[in-house]
Amino acid sequence: MTGPVPELADRATACAEHLLETDRVVLASHIDADGLTSAAIAAQALERAAIPFETVFEKQLDADAIEAIAETEYDTVLFTDFGSGQLDVIGEYEDAGAFTPVIADHHQPANRDTEYHLNPLLFGIDGASELSGAGASYVLARALAEESDGSDGATVAADGGAAVATGATEPRADNRDLAALAVVGAVGDMQASGGELHGANERIVAEGVDAGVVETSTDLALYGKQTRPLPKLLEYATDVYIPGISNDENGALRFLDDLDLELKRDGEWRRWSGLTSDEKQTIASALVKRAVSRGVPATKIEQLVGTAYVLPEEPVGTELRDASEFSTLLNATARYERADVGLGVCLGDRDGALERARTLLRNHRRNLSTGIDLVTREGVTHEENVQWFHAGDEIRETIVGIVAGMAMGNEGISRSKPIIAFAAKNDDEVKISTRGTHNLVRQGLDLSVVAGEASRAVGGDGGGHNVAAGATVPKGNEDAFVERADEIVGEQLS
Ligand code: C5P
Ligand code: C5P
Ligand code: C5P
Ligand code: ZN
Repeated sequence: MTGPVPELADRATACAEHLLETDRVVLASHIDADGLTSAAIAAQALERAAIPFETVFEKQLDADAIEAIAETEYDTVLFTDFGSGQLDVIGEYEDAGAFTPVIADHHQPANRDTEYHLNPLLFGIDGASELSGAGASYVLARALAEESDGSDGATVAADGGAAVATGATEPRADNRDLAALAVVGAVGDMQASGGELHGANERIVAEGVDAGVVETSTDLALYGKQTRPLPKLLEYATDVYIPGISNDENGALRFLDDLDLELKRDGEWRRWSGLTSDEKQTIASALVKRAVSRGVPATKIEQLVGTAYVLPEEPVGTELRDASEFSTLLNATARYERADVGLGVCLGDRDGALERARTLLRNHRRNLSTGIDLVTREGVTHEENVQWFHAGDEIRETIVGIVAGMAMGNEGISRSKPIIAFAAKNDDEVKISTRGTHNLVRQGLDLSVVAGEASRAVGGDGGGHNVAAGATVPKGNEDAFVERADEIVGEQLS
């Protein structure tokens, strides 16, 4: 059995075998949608394999965080959605016999490898667009099921072998049901481009479809198809800006009123997810027609349609049914120090987690919208090859990257240069988030190198992906960072 990503099969088997020989494990993961789904996948796979574990979340896996983990009494640490970039530090603990690391990650690895290290970048698979942390964790989960089953054959024994399930979800001997969370993680890490997931991600989608936990369809590519009333769906969708509808409450209402459809029920606007295909078709055609008549370029209009990833086992009209809305809900918990709530949601709404997550979501949305307005109003400073802004303490450092990415393309904020965002982290340090586009990456942009090199040049550290990366530097080094970053980006794009 080679698993969903054959290139990773040997490493996955080695990681799984080691975990199955372990008494107990610390599971350490990252605080965002991909990190949470990674943890949820790993947690369920460990539960089903009857391996006891404890979970911890870190905003950033720095030297202090690794030291704290090393001081626990566990012999094995399973890192998900981070660990590769910190292998230099982790390796020192490994050498000293403090713990054995098992890593399922997709970030740019530090200059060192280890035996139980699962990372697509080691095998020529792009960690920014073809496999997420949750995807790497899923590959591990599939191998765990395979190995704990005691058979190396292609079939999975119905009695489940050594696997004992204690999870809230219906256990499946092969862990394919966990593909749904892997898709949410990939979408949350913005790995979809041109409207759909690619590469190894696509193979995970296919396994999810087979297992009945994922459905794909070509659909309107707007955010909020499950939960937003129709006028809000259209008004708030600004990625493809349609004059007279986007950011225009009355315009969106008039547009819908003019269609010959019954779009209200009991006086309430219906949602996209509850429409019939004919109704969807009518609205989509009218929207495209309007965009054309208002001069929206064809390349933009194409972006109105894409592949929707739906989780059919989740209730219609909830955030959980749409991979994109699910991932936003998770960011709304983890990026506000409530990773426990997000994990509870992923594990099947444990302890009323969903209601609490929704409260956090309202706050997150408010913060995103205020942040985007602020950046757009105050504008960015353009250097030759990069553009930047400093949010001080006006935007939380954990979401300044999301805001920067969403603001790109707004008035005065270019999509043909990467954006650098600064936000206060504490009295002494500044958090940096950088965002590019897949288009710039094709031209040679690698922000993980930019964030890493430019931050180390000023006494900080950082890393990430080609299209999105981050760093922390001592306060006062912002200008020097921009200057160095501008040079590196210039070299990459020349
Ligand atoms: O640490 P991790 O890999 O999980 O985080 C990746 C981050 O990069 C996500 O927060 C996502 O918002 C961001 N990203 C982006 N644009 C892309 C790809 C990723 O903003 N095209
Ligand atoms: O839909 P898209 O992939 O552009 O969304 C990226 C992220 O931006 C979402 O996961 C969510 O965090 C946020 N978002 C949002 N409201 C929107 C569009 C995006 O909260 N209208
Ligand atoms: O924090 P932000 O969303 O901007 O992070 C973008 C990407 O950069 C994430 O994948 C994150 O894990 C990575 N990053 C990093 N080292 C840092 C900060 C962020 O590798 N110091
Ligand atoms: Zn990730």
